Amino acid sequence: MYRQMIDEAQTALEAAILYYQGEPIGTVAARDPEAEALNYDQCFVRDFVSSALVFLMQGKPDIVRNFLVAVLGLQSRERRLDCFQPGQGLHPASFKVEVQAGEEYLVADFGEQAIARVAPIDSCFWWLILLRAYVKATGDLALAHRADFQQGIQMILQLCLEARFDLFPTLLVPDGSFMIDRRMGVYGHPLEIQALFYAALRTTRELLLPDGTSKTYLEAVEARLSHLTYHVRKYYWIDLQRLNEIYRYKGEEFGDMAVNRFNVYPDTIPSWLIEWLSGTSGYLAGNLGPGQIDFRFFGLGNLMSVIVSLATGQQSQAIVNLIEQRWQDLIGYMPLKICFPAVEGQDWKIITGCDPKNIPWSYHNGGSWPVLLWFLTAAMLKMGRDDLAYKALEIAEKRLLPDQWPEYYDGRTGKLIGKEARKYQTWTIAAFLASKALLENPSHLSLISFDEDLEVDACLIKGSPVKGTHFPNEVI
Ligand code: GLC
Repeated sequence: MYRQMIDEAQTALEAAILYYQGEPIGTVAARDPEAEALNYDQCFVRDFVSSALVFLMQGKPDIVRNFLVAVLGLQSRERRLDCFQPGQGLHPASFKVEVQAGEEYLVADFGEQAIARVAPIDSCFWWLILLRAYVKATGDLALAHRADFQQGIQMILQLCLEARFDLFPTLLVPDGSFMIDRRMGVYGHPLEIQALFYAALRTTRELLLPDGTSKTYLEAVEARLSHLTYHVRKYYWIDLQRLNEIYRYKGEEFGDMAVNRFNVYPDTIPSWLIEWLSGTSGYLAGNLGPGQIDFRFFGLGNLMSVIVSLATGQQSQAIVNLIEQRWQDLIGYMPLKICFPAVEGQDWKIITGCDPKNIPWSYHNGGSWPVLLWFLTAAMLKMGRDDLAYKALEIAEKRLLPDQWPEYYDGRTGKLIGKEARKYQTWTIAAFLASKALLENPSHLSLISFDEDLEVDACLIKGSPVKGTHFPNEVI
């Protein structure tokens, strides 16, 4: 039975491969024979990462290499003053192969075709993270050092490091610019983007050659990494101690010495949260901005923060504790909740714009996404909790094949197959295979993980501000 499941997953993954000029170049998002394809017949950059990790772990790096080269070729290269064109350095959300006059072409979508016209800010980060994984798996550093790759990396940095409209070290993005690509109140400084941004910056540290103009970029990367790390670890962190601080916050503090830096009012603490946390659990908040902490728990951002060491060792441990202690809420009958809890009633109306696909406990609004299984497995392995990874995989194994690899599940505990979920969703299939491969050979974890950044951590442990932090007058 078990062997059969793996074989079927492998066959389904291979059937999803997209070919361009005779070469494998990516995987399509889903192959549901019963649903209209829309753009699910395209290769999404974020979705392909799950497939790519499987291919790398299985010693089949060619498709990943082809993908990296192809997506680099689609990167927006020109500096434009045209608001309808993607900004220089941006990577597409997805691409497809089109045939014109007997010739094949790649056609990219930067969000101009997508529902609600959402821009994919995460694509350029995923491309970088995958490039590092490919280099680690193959030792082919020469690819990353190629002039066009170096230029592509610089363009991503230029796009992200340029000073813009706010004064935070986190990245300001529009709603729906990552895995949650619909209106969900995730505009501003969402955790998922910050965790990917952090991993991408650490990647450039490893892959950018320190010559010519790159030196300036590398200096900017160092500075940004320390600002970003400090900011997320300190201000996004939620545990009982921090909740007590926020609970007693004063408002309207002016000037440098303000304790309540973002003017968050204690009344915004949701009532469910106080009982939800224990003395040993914690997590990183979903978003932080002026007058706002989004207290929802977001799965990908928290797990990725553990995997790439954006969270400290202690914080990572508390996140693991939370998942273990709130197993029924976060894992239930299918790992893992994309976000918890769902927004309901008037909040649902205002926050999602009455989105019928994002009704409470469905899809992005509290649905359970099997793709998050490999993130969970990787995070648990990193924290030495293989037992929890196995336990979650066992739950998923019972259902994924008979349910035909759904895109997502619905309900408070993930009991129902998602109302509008695609079947044969490629990243669901890939996440199962990747989790299996990770558990069989935990050394694969290094493809995606980062060790703690000792330089930054040493400063934080000593209690002195990290050199050049965003709020230099503050001692933690
Ligand atoms: C949905 C998801 C998005 C994914 C796409 C293709 O739009 O929200 O994250 O990339 O489907 O699977």
